[in-house]
Amino acid sequence: MRTRPLKVALLGCGVVGSEVARIMTTHADDLAARIGAPVELAGVAVRRPSKVREGIDPSLVTTDATALVKRGDIDVVVEVIGGIEPARTLITTAFEYGASVVSANKALLAQDGAALHAAAEDHDADLYYEAAVAGAIPLIRPLRESLAGDKVNRVLGIVNGTTNFILDKMDTTGAGYQEALDEATALGYAEADPTADVEGFDAAAKAAILAGIAFHSRVRLDDVYREGMTEVTAADFASAKEMGCTIKLLAICERAEDGESVTARVHPAMIPLTHPLASVRGAYNAVFVESDASGQLMFYGPGAGGSPTASAVLGDLVAVCRNRLNGATGPGESAYAALPVSGMGEVVTRYHISLDVADKPGVLAQVATVFAEHGVSIDTVRQQGKDGEASLVVVTHRASDAALGGTVEALRKLDTVRGVASIMRVEGE
Ligand SMILES: NC(=O)c1ccc[n+]([C@@H]2O[C@H](COP(=O)([O-])OP(=O)(O)OC[C@H]3O[C@@H](n4cnc5c(N)ncnc54)[C@H](OP(=O)(O)O)[C@@H]3O)[C@@H](O)[C@H]2O)c1
Repeated sequence: MRTRPLKVALLGCGVVGSEVARIMTTHADDLAARIGAPVELAGVAVRRPSKVREGIDPSLVTTDATALVKRGDIDVVVEVIGGIEPARTLITTAFEYGASVVSANKALLAQDGAALHAAAEDHDADLYYEAAVAGAIPLIRPLRESLAGDKVNRVLGIVNGTTNFILDKMDTTGAGYQEALDEATALGYAEADPTADVEGFDAAAKAAILAGIAFHSRVRLDDVYREGMTEVTAADFASAKEMGCTIKLLAICERAEDGESVTARVHPAMIPLTHPLASVRGAYNAVFVESDASGQLMFYGPGAGGSPTASAVLGDLVAVCRNRLNGATGPGESAYAALPVSGMGEVVTRYHISLDVADKPGVLAQVATVFAEHGVSIDTVRQQGKDGEASLVVVTHRASDAALGGTVEALRKLDTVRGVASIMRVEGE
C-alpha cells in the first residue's frame, strides 16, 4: 500500500459534510485498505468558522474555499455546499488545479451537468455524484456501469422523501395537505421553506440527472415537466382508494415507443396498491428501472439524511481515489444517443378525471361524446347524484397528454359541466 496519503478538500461541513468527515476519520484504516493509500482530510471550507464542529481539527477549517481548491496538492474535492454558486466555480477551479470532484449537488448537476463533465474531461479528472440522487441508494453507478450493456426504457421512482412522508400521512391518517406538511416540518422532514420539495423542483432535478444517464442523452432541468403535490386533497385519496390505488409524487423518465425521443416528468399520480412503489412509506425513496434485458429492477432505501448521503459520497470518494492511484478516470458523461426530449403533450398514460356536473338526463352521453371527439377512450365511469348536482368520475385508457388537455378544455365549455374537480394521471399498470 502506498504510504503517501491522498489529500481531500471538504467543501461544506453541514448535514452531509460533517458525516463525511466523521466516517473518513472513524473508518480511516478500512478506507486506506480499500483504496490502497490513506486519505487525509486536508481542509474544510465553511461559511461560519466559529461554529463548533465535533471531530474536526479547527486548524483545518477555512472560509476561503477558493484558496483551498487552488492549493495544488489536493487530489479530491468533495463539494457538499449545495446550490449553484459558489459550488460551480469551485468545482471547475478544482479541475483546473488537478483535482477530481465528488459532489452531492443535484441542483447544479441538473442545470450544468454537461459543462461540468466537459471540464472534468478536459483535465483528465473524475466527476462523481452518486449522492445527488436518492441519498444512500446506489442508482447512478448501476445505471452508468451495471446496466451499461442493457437498454433502459423507463425509470419510475419516488425520489423525494419529504413529499413521500406527507402523502403517506395523508393516505394513512386522512390528514389534509397542510396538516401533514406541519407534521413533516415538526419532525424535521420538511425544511422551513418546503417549496423545492412540495413543488417538485428537487425531484425534477433528480429526474433530469437520471434521464440523462439512463438514455445516454442530455436532459436538463428545464426539459423536465413539473407539477407539485400541494393540490392533492383528501378527496383525491378517497378516489384513489376506490380504484385500489394510492397517490405518490413520481419522477418518470421514459423512452418513447418508437425509441426516437425521451420524456421526463414529475407529478403526483395514482399508482395501484399492488405496485411495489405503493408500499414505499414515510421518507423512504425507491426507484424502478425497466430495461430490455434485465426486466424490472427496484432500488429502495433512505433517500436523504446526513449519514445515508455520506455513505454515497464515501463510495464515490473510494472509487475516485482508486482511479487516481491507477492513473485512470472512471466513466464520464455518455450522451452519444443525443435523443431529443419531447414535451408533456407527447406523454401517453391513463387519467382519472373527476367532474362536477348537473344531475340531469343526457349529461353522461354529452361528456362521453367530448372524450370520443378527442380520441380519448373511456375505461370506466362512475356517477353519483344528489340534489340536482352530480359527480362524474371518468378513468380513461391510455391517451396522450395533449389529447387529454383538449378533452378537458372542451369539457369546461359544456353548460352541464360545473367544474373539473381533479385530474390525476394513473401510472404503474
Ligand atoms: N441533507 C441531505 O439529506 C442531502 C441529501 C442528498 C443530497 N444533499 C445535497 O448535499 C449538499 C449539502 O447539503 P447539506 O444538507 O449538508 O447542507 P447544509 O447542512 O446546509 O450544509 C452546507 C454547508 O456548506 C457550507 N457553506 C455554505 N456556503 C458556503 C460557502 N460560500 N463557502 C464555504 N462553505 C459554505 C455551510 O457552512 P456553515 O456550516 O458554516 O453554515 C455548511 O457547512 C447539497 O447539494 C444537497 O442538495 C443533501
